[in-house]
Amino acid sequence: MKIIMLGAPGAGKGTQAKMIADKYSIPHISTGDIFRANIKNGTELGMEAKKYMDKGQLVPDELTVRILLDRVAKDDCSNGYVLDGFPRTIPQAEVLDSELTKIGDKIDYAIDVDVPDENIVNRMSGRRACVSCGATYHIVHIPPKQQGICDKCGSELILRDDDAPETVLKRLKVYHEQTQPLIDFYSKKGILKTVDGTVDSADVFKAITAILG
Ligand code: AP5
Ligand code: MG
Repeated sequence: MKIIMLGAPGAGKGTQAKMIADKYSIPHISTGDIFRANIKNGTELGMEAKKYMDKGQLVPDELTVRILLDRVAKDDCSNGYVLDGFPRTIPQAEVLDSELTKIGDKIDYAIDVDVPDENIVNRMSGRRACVSCGATYHIVHIPPKQQGICDKCGSELILRDDDAPETVLKRLKVYHEQTQPLIDFYSKKGILKTVDGTVDSADVFKAITAILG
């Protein structure tokens, strides 16, 4: 099963993608997590991506597409995957489409986690993320068992550099301009499914599993 998660920054794509990955035993692939791991490890790719991410801008398509195509070619993707944060532009979606067509394959579902802009800034300021395993928490809605420590791997939780309120507003603007058109793109392909992302995360997941079966 090949799934794409769509939605604004902070809509809960990562939270839901992790649960989908666990339930259906497919890898969760987040381009944002890949970039953050590279930033943490000080790689050349990380340094390049950071220039854009810190400003709330998108990393150029050329770079992002290369990283993603390398990742989905790995053996663990043979039964499918859940993509979180990719594609984010029409050109990215078109490349993914044509690469899959070449191997006689396709995306099964594009799930849009729908959350209005008003809810987003509040969510982001409360988010804490694990730089080691990518798990995400919220200090009020989804707190870790021990403050500041990841439940899953025991590493330290951080406030992401791009979660400052002014950067979040910039990311929302970029989302509406460059990523929202993908909703129409996948709707026309007949694979778009929209879920209400404002309800409790367990209820969002129920709505998603009702779609995926
Ligand atoms: P990325 O890491 O993908 O960030 P994003 O899309 O901005 O989304 P977020 O990760 O911020 O939010 P999310 O939807 O995953 O929400 P989460 O589950 O954490 O990308 C970062 C940057 O990398 C981009 O700005 C860009 O520069 C670059 N990049 C990445 N991919 C790229 C691409 N393809 N092309 C170009 N550039 C790219 O939830 C948010 C918070 O809410 C958490 O605290 C969570 O605990 C809480 N929460 C979740 N669900 C609920 C709920 N139902 N109710 C209450 N709280 C909830
Ligand atoms: Mg995320």
